[in-house]
Formats: sequence, structure tokens, C-alpha cells
Amino acid sequence: MATFDFHQLDRFSGSSTSIRRPREFTYFSFDEKHELRPLSTESLSYYHPPVFNAPGTHAPPIDLSAGFDTFVQRDDGIDEHLDALLDTLQAHEEQLLQSVQEDDTKIGDVRTQADVITWRGMMTKILTAAFDIFNEFEMNATCFQGTISFVEENNAAKAARRTAQNTQNTPRGGVPQEMMQYWGYKFETLSVLPKPWAECTRHEIEAREVQTVNNNAQFCSIVRTGIGATSLIIAGEVDAVLGEKPDSPDDPIPWVELKTSAEQTGHPREAVKFERKLLNYWAQSFLLAVPTIMVGFRTPDGFLTRIQELSTQRIPSMVKQGSRTWDGNVCINLTGAFLEILKRTVVGGGVWRISRKQGEKRIEVFKVEDAGTGNIIRPSFKAHREKL
Ligand code: A3P
Ligand code: MG
Ligand code: MG
Repeated sequence: MATFDFHQLDRFSGSSTSIRRPREFTYFSFDEKHELRPLSTESLSYYHPPVFNAPGTHAPPIDLSAGFDTFVQRDDGIDEHLDALLDTLQAHEEQLLQSVQEDDTKIGDVRTQADVITWRGMMTKILTAAFDIFNEFEMNATCFQGTISFVEENNAAKAARRTAQNTQNTPRGGVPQEMMQYWGYKFETLSVLPKPWAECTRHEIEAREVQTVNNNAQFCSIVRTGIGATSLIIAGEVDAVLGEKPDSPDDPIPWVELKTSAEQTGHPREAVKFERKLLNYWAQSFLLAVPTIMVGFRTPDGFLTRIQELSTQRIPSMVKQGSRTWDGNVCINLTGAFLEILKRTVVGGGVWRISRKQGEKRIEVFKVEDAGTGNIIRPSFKAHREKL
């Protein structure tokens, strides 16, 4: 068992440990039915803001609640493990293998190598552990062929608890939680196009206003990156691209993350609350090299008021000049140090629990199964690796 203690944040301050710029090397889509499409861009979206409040136009106000009754919502009661990520790595490796076989001048191992493979959501929780006051998690980790994978399990049970809470909670300002969540997806639907703007007809652009909101479709980017001496492969959803994806895989991708947030009324408490929210925006976007975040501000009853563009890279310095509720360098250094402990602990066969309880300033890593890889590495991926 290993305990990673972060009571003393001083030891993580100062300039940040080295970071390798995240670079996409493969991707996948979930279609409208949430079926996996490895190596497919079919659910990639293109950012194009909705028209509203523009001087000289008579566009009506945008009500983010519109269409709530027809919301097609993804079933989050299913444990997805790392399956979509592993299936995509498999497809990627099979494709590489084929090109190696066709062109016998290229030789080498087609297996994707990294110290760590996980979802962006898992890394966000670690990156924000020191400063997110509600932060808690239970993840399972295993080491397979020299790579550590970790993921939260039992989300099905958690989703059921969340639904129960949503129905029990006295809605804030009379708005149910489900509606607030819908506003986020509605804002996404209104802000993206299924193909580049130049290829869309006016009708296709306007059709977004009446389009059914469906959160089954997702486009996920898979990147290689590094924090300190740890190499990582991270996969996560990206909401949209600004313009188009560059032709060269070496060029950074102008991804856009979309968020909704309550309009500020000038009260200092609200500014602090927003700064805390920025921690999650920043961590999530930083990990996949998403350079821009578009925040759709809204009234308490869900009418869009304005869209503010934030530069991910500048968020930590905004916070330094604000209430200093968190520090980006501390987040990165803490993550680098935690990954070192993980690499030392998760060695050999078996399954480990990575546990952080709310309010406790430590992450514990302890063995829960003596052999095997639990539910983390699916059998089809193992069979694929045996064939290589
Ligand atoms: P907003 O946060 O913009 O309101 P994401 O921003 O990560 O792309 O997620 C899109 C929307 O999914 C969010 O919109 C929110 O409505 C919902 N969502 C994301 N993470 C959530 C969580 N942990 N719990 C509940 N809803 C969440
Ligand atoms: Mg998203
Ligand atoms: Mg978003």
C-alpha cells in the first residue's frame, strides 16, 4: 500500500514539471445510438456560434430549456470501463500492422507504448485533487504489458445515486438538476455544425434551433502526452473544432470546449465560485491541448446572455490575479509526483484501488486483487495483443 500525502502543498509549488504537448494520434466516435466507431470522425463537430443579441438583428432570445421534453439522453448507468479506448487502440494497431506488412522497409513494434493509459476524466480528478473541495474517487488500476491503466468502476451504482439525489434535491431557484444539465447539451447543439461552416447551407445552420438534443454522439480524441518522467495516453471527448482540423498531424488542433455557466451579478462570492469552476475547465482542456473554451452565460432560468471566449493557457494566470483559489503549477507537480508513486506501486499482476475520500488530503493506492487485470483490460484486447 502507498499513501500519497498532499497536506503540504508548498512542496509542489514553483515552476511546473516538464509537460509534453498532447498530440492526437488516433480517435473514435460514438454514433447517435452511442455505438462505437473506432478511427471514425463521424461525430466530429464544427464550432459556429448561434446568432443572438446581435445589434441590428431581431433574433429572439435563446431559451436553453427549449426541447427538453424530447431530450435523447445517454444511459450513464452502464460501466464502460476502458473498452472504447482499448478497442480503438486495437484498431489503430491493426491498421499499423497492415501498413508495416505492406511496406516491408518499415519494421518495429506496433504496440502503443506508454507508462499510463486512461480517460481524460480520470486525469482531471487527479489534476484537481488538491483544490477541488468536492473531489473524491475510487478507481481501479492494473499493469498490463508494462502499461498502467486505471478507471472508475461501478458508475452504474453512482448514476443511480445521482438520479435519486436529483429527484430529492430541492431545486435551486426552482430549476431541476436535469434541466440544468440539459442547458449544457442544448448550448452544444446550438453552437456546432456537423460539417465545416462553408459546406453548410443556411437551412442546415438554422436547423440547429429545432434539432433534437441527443448526447449519445461523441467525438473522442486520443493523445500522447507526458507529465514529468511519465508518458501517458489519454482519451477524452472534444466538443468541437474551430474551423477545421489541420492536415498535418504535427500542428495543434484548434479544439473548442463548450460550457454553460450562470451569469454573474457582481457579487464577490460569485466570482470565487466561477474561479473554482475554472479549475475544472482548465484541467479538462489542458490535458487534451484544447486551446479555447467558449462559455455560454445564462440567466437563472436558462436564457443565453453572452458567450465569452477563454484561452485555456491563460486561465492559471487569471486565477493568480484573482482570488487565488487554486494554482495550476501545483496541480501539475502534484500529478507528476502521484504518477511516480503509481509507477512504483502498480507492478506485476493484480488490481489496485486508487482512493481519495472527500476532505482528505491524500490518495491511497492498495491492492484489491492478487492476480489478473479485473474488468480493466477486456479479453478481446488481450487476445489482440497475443496475436501481435
Ligand atoms: P455544462 O457544464 O457546460 O453546463 P462537458 O462540458 O464536459 O462537455 O459536458 C457537457 C454537459 O454535460 C455539461 O454542460 C453538463 O450539463 C453535463 N455534465 C458534464 N459533466 C457532468 C457531471 N459530472 N455531472 C453532471 N452533469 C455533467
Ligand atoms: Mg463535452
Ligand atoms: Mg463541454
